[in-house]
Amino acid sequence: MTNETKENKQLKKEVESRRTFAIISHPDAGKTTITEQLLLFGGAIRQAGTVKAKKSGKFAKSDWMEIEKQRGISVTSSVMQFDYDGKRINILDTPGHEDFSEDTYRTLMAVDAAVMVVDSAKGIEEQTKKLFKVCRMRGIPIFTFMNKLDRDGREPLELVEELEEVLEIDAYPMNWPIGSGKNFLGLYDLYHNRIEMFRPDESNHGERFIPLNEEGSIEGEHQLKQESLYDQVLEEAMLLKEAGNDFSEKAILDGELTPVFFGSALTNFGVQTFLETFLQFAPAPTEHIDIDGRKVSPNKEEFSGFVFKIQANMDPKHRDRIAFVRICSGDFERGIDVTLTRTDKKMKLSNSTQFMAENRESVKGAVAGDIIGLYDTGNFQIGDTIYEGKQAIEFESLPQFTPELFIKVEPKNVMKQKSFHKGINQLVQEGAIQLYKTYHTETYIIGAVGQLQFEVFQHRMLNEYNSEVVMTSIGSRIARWINPEQLDENMGSSRNMLVRDRFDRPLFLFENQFAERWFSDKYPDVELTSLL
Ligand code: G4P
Repeated sequence: MTNETKENKQLKKEVESRRTFAIISHPDAGKTTITEQLLLFGGAIRQAGTVKAKKSGKFAKSDWMEIEKQRGISVTSSVMQFDYDGKRINILDTPGHEDFSEDTYRTLMAVDAAVMVVDSAKGIEEQTKKLFKVCRMRGIPIFTFMNKLDRDGREPLELVEELEEVLEIDAYPMNWPIGSGKNFLGLYDLYHNRIEMFRPDESNHGERFIPLNEEGSIEGEHQLKQESLYDQVLEEAMLLKEAGNDFSEKAILDGELTPVFFGSALTNFGVQTFLETFLQFAPAPTEHIDIDGRKVSPNKEEFSGFVFKIQANMDPKHRDRIAFVRICSGDFERGIDVTLTRTDKKMKLSNSTQFMAENRESVKGAVAGDIIGLYDTGNFQIGDTIYEGKQAIEFESLPQFTPELFIKVEPKNVMKQKSFHKGINQLVQEGAIQLYKTYHTETYIIGAVGQLQFEVFQHRMLNEYNSEVVMTSIGSRIARWINPEQLDENMGSSRNMLVRDRFDRPLFLFENQFAERWFSDKYPDVELTSLL
């Protein structure tokens, strides 16, 4: 065997072991709790509460230094890596609450699968829907964890039905709860054909798993058989087998069928079974397609990757940022020479970092599926490709997302127009915010999906471009693009502000759904479209 093939074999083995995914959920569904359990299994943290403590550093919105501190910490936990059962797992955080931004969406461009955590008392909530839509668009596998079974929640059948209806995806329950809340006995594990007891010590002489026979019931005498919930779960399981979707690994990989797991993250019940089954079906990194349609194999020896997120201003004294790069191929070694496709500029990647749960560590050797952070002084933009070797690669640019919040922005000091324009243009190009202008007055309006984007914008304008900005909120708006040929400028009004985006495409910012409907009734032939 030549050295080369040996190396390639090694690389392939490394890539095969990678599982890179994001956990999406509505705030409070239990994402942090489940993440902690996963990290505990992987030995990446030693104590529950480690991630939580970082997350709950409550801060006053107006106090930037506090946000800074918070974000400085949150960057370390925004990519978490641990090993489990021969696999190297990368969990990418998708922040909820006040940290929600376009970066949250873009993070979903860098993963190979998603785990959706749902509060079983609440069902599918708004923020989950939005993030889910992006996953669907990418066609990545989505695994569902119905959480908080230790509390009384909604009927499992109702939850699964809602999931299928609201999200338009087929569901396959991998297990089924036996009772809930105080009467929660455990899980009927349809996939492994066994029962997993919630409190093995109390009701069941320490037995955790009870095997089931081919008919799916407990063989012989068993205490559990006395429970009415047992009969009920057998009936429900039968119903699922007869009327439910068929299990299909292909449908899972195509993102058409979501395996559903029930459990309770807080009591660490069902999480390990979930993790093990997830690892069995979640895909290892696959090829990425570049804009010329060429396939870039994850096993290609030369490094390539793309920037999906830029975290600004870790340290207020410096202007440095961290560009998060998803590796698509090759073996990343510190100090390698790469080309930045957009500028054709060559650079040495010597200042890089890999993310761990507790602290940032220098990169040791990262392959496709892994995320590295590059210290950046302004070279990178969101969506940039970097590659090693002579053959140029350019991955598809990342999609733009429809902003929902808008503000008018102007320089506080009108004499400082130059730095204002420079800053705004650079931040727009970098992907930090989206820029619009009104038709005649050319008023600058910036759009975002999360409030924090505005605060970061204001802070960076001041600190990096020495431009103090005045922001006037317009509030939330529904942005809809219109075919320029159908546009008549008189269509604009105070309830549907007409603006142009930075590519000069016209769009309306509707005050609310009512205004949008009113417009569609008035101009039935006009087509309105949204970004993602
Ligand atoms: P998030 O990251 O999705 O926002 O949710 P997080 O894990 O922070 O959980 C939100 C709340 O739900 C927490 O309670 C957490 O303890 C609770 N929780 C998570 N999983 C379960 C579960 O399986 N069962 C039950 N009963 N509760 C669960 P909190 O009161 O907001 O926080 P804390 O003060 O208890 O830490």
